[in-house]
Amino acid sequence: MTDDLLPGCRIVPLTVRGDDRGSLVAIEGGRDLPFAIARVYYVFGTTVGVDRGCHAHHHLRQLAIAVAGGCTMLLDDGVQRVRVRLDDAAKGLTMGPLIWREMSDFSPDCVLMVLADAVYDEADYIRDYDEFLAVAGSGK
Ligand code: TYD
Repeated sequence: MTDDLLPGCRIVPLTVRGDDRGSLVAIEGGRDLPFAIARVYYVFGTTVGVDRGCHAHHHLRQLAIAVAGGCTMLLDDGVQRVRVRLDDAAKGLTMGPLIWREMSDFSPDCVLMVLADAVYDEADYIRDYDEFLAVAGSGK
């Protein structure tokens, strides 16, 4: 079962292996994800009231999971905007290229983990919204 939000963006259920000791989620690149994992990063200790993100990527594909706490993700493909609350360690949000994203309303305990298909490359970022609209619109 998937929950499509925008083209390239969907909520995907993760398989939880649980027993009476607790829960475990394993994510394998190319099996649970449609890409090989080149990078993992996580955002935590976010100052209350701060927004993060505010960028898009030319090529990067990512899966974001709130492994603790929660935050709100705004997603924008240049045509539509949707907001989704990430607060379930058993669900991931896939984000394809050319999606503008903004994160807000972080809970104090939020740990947002992101799996990405490429290493960090500032040249892949689009940090200006008007530039994003121009690039996203040129492909539509
Ligand atoms: P930034 O892109 O501003 O974070 P966010 O999109 O969550 O607001 O990244 C913060 C800093 O960390 C910035 O100096 C770039 C650096 N960074 C890396 O070195 N590697 C990474 O994989 C990421 C995501 C960021």
